[in-house]
Amino acid sequence: MRAPGAAEYVPTGADIADLRAAARACHGCDLYRHATQTVFGEGPASADVVMVGEQPGDHEDIDGHPFVGPAGRLLDRALAEAGIDRDRLYLTNVVKHFKFEERGKRRIHKQPGRTEIVACSPWFDAEIDAVRPQLVVCLGAVAAHAVLGPTFKITAERGETHTAERFSVIATVHPSAVLRAPDRTAAYADFVRDLRRVEAAIRGLRGNA
Ligand code: URA
Ligand code: SF4
Repeated sequence: MRAPGAAEYVPTGADIADLRAAARACHGCDLYRHATQTVFGEGPASADVVMVGEQPGDHEDIDGHPFVGPAGRLLDRALAEAGIDRDRLYLTNVVKHFKFEERGKRRIHKQPGRTEIVACSPWFDAEIDAVRPQLVVCLGAVAAHAVLGPTFKITAERGETHTAERFSVIATVHPSAVLRAPDRTAAYADFVRDLRRVEAAIRGLRGNA
């Protein structure tokens, strides 16, 4: 039987704490079967910026928190360099369970498919409804396609501000892509450059506060 998606698990009108609690029991797709736990978004419910990645990785799956592994450490460094305070962001992922393939003792990240992305989207929609951000920052193609549609091209439009109905959107690469890049120094510099544009946008919406 095909899993029906997360919608039936999402309490309507719930705040972030209630959503997080409910998401622990989500069986909206098959990913919960092999993952350790749901990794829900984190950060102040009053955040004016939501930053969204793809799915939790190996470390996140074990820890239960988003962006705590190698990609998270790179993100932390880049955020600090760009002058963005991680503690003021609501940080989440499009898909809330780790998808992987076992290779010996290692668990290798597998990109989530259309089925899982669609199945999990009610959680992200509910996070957006609860946080009501002014700016959404997409890290990587999965996040950018979820927010800006499937034709969005990161390479062509990274770092640019897009105006959606309820919030602005800036997309950049995923920190894992920086870690995998052949020229990591250049990829990191480009990533920080995009995040500086995010920082300028944040300053704009906070009225330089
Ligand atoms: N990659 C993501 O997209 N999210 C995480 O939380 C960790 C790695
Ligand atoms: Fe539910 Fe999303 Fe986990 Fe699938 S990945 S079980 S939809 S929380």
